[in-house]
Amino acid sequence: MGKLRGKVALVTGAGTRGGGIGNGKACALVYAREGARVLVADIDEELARSTADLIRSEGGECIPYRADVAQARDCEAMVEACIGHYGRLDVLHNNVGITNSGGPVEYGEDQWDRMMAVNAKSMFLTAKFALPHMERQRAGSIVNIGSINGARAIPFPKFAYAASKGAMIAMSREIAIQYAPLGIRSNVVLVGLIKSPIVEQNNTGLYGGDLGEMWKKRDAMSPTGRQGEVWDVASASLFFASDDSRYVNGTVLPVDGGLINMVKF
Ligand SMILES: NC(=O)c1ccc[n+]([C@@H]2O[C@H](COP(=O)([O-])OP(=O)(O)OC[C@H]3O[C@@H](n4cnc5c(N)ncnc54)[C@H](O)[C@@H]3O)[C@@H](O)[C@H]2O)c1
Repeated sequence: MGKLRGKVALVTGAGTRGGGIGNGKACALVYAREGARVLVADIDEELARSTADLIRSEGGECIPYRADVAQARDCEAMVEACIGHYGRLDVLHNNVGITNSGGPVEYGEDQWDRMMAVNAKSMFLTAKFALPHMERQRAGSIVNIGSINGARAIPFPKFAYAASKGAMIAMSREIAIQYAPLGIRSNVVLVGLIKSPIVEQNNTGLYGGDLGEMWKKRDAMSPTGRQGEVWDVASASLFFASDDSRYVNGTVLPVDGGLINMVKF
């Protein structure tokens, strides 16, 4: 325990839509359990507050913050709130991500613009305002929650989602190289099939509403025969956030049970 003692983390999308514990909330919890003071940001103030309550109930230190990370002014104010409250920012964790199905013909222009703003532009904006503080500190780690769909096509088209997650990999690589001499690292967790509340919400219409069947199908898609858990995403994120990965920079780590290596016919 205590891998993040003395550090300050900012987690975006730290709430969980519909209750329960999603990836962002799990990462914020694990960071706090490891000794970090955490600013938990979400577009939904109530959701940010519920994560903060959970962290505090375990004795962790945390502040909830409302921000739409697709907006520059919100990102700037969010980073300033973190610095104003805790005096530093060691870990920027970009969890926010929305998803939608369809190819270029099915996607509306508005849907494309929103997807790119929330999933990709947000990473540019959080980095834009966080990096000057990390540069001053001569230290920092940016943890980006990507998707295997950012690196591989999946059986159902998610054109804009894939593009946004691909952009995340490119941005992370650019930051990693430009800021390496300043002691700042940036890495991507490539998330595979995770059994999380948002997946349940997004897929209620599948398999005639039979959620058990939906989870079974997702389990069967993994070479391990089961989906991952949000805690698997949190463990990988903790590695990138902590000094355990101090010489790991610009990498992409699949957390997918090996799915990305599979060829299916
Ligand atoms: N669960 C999976 O199987 C899976 C697979 C691949 C990738 N991912 C990635 O995991 C991440 C999300 O995981 P989660 O379980 O935390 O999802 P979640 O939807 O439960 O939580 C995300 C939070 O982000 C918030 N949010 C949405 N738009 C925002 C905005 N503009 N500004 C600030 N906050 C905003 C939501 O209110 C929500 O509370 C995404 O990046 C997603 O692409 C998940």
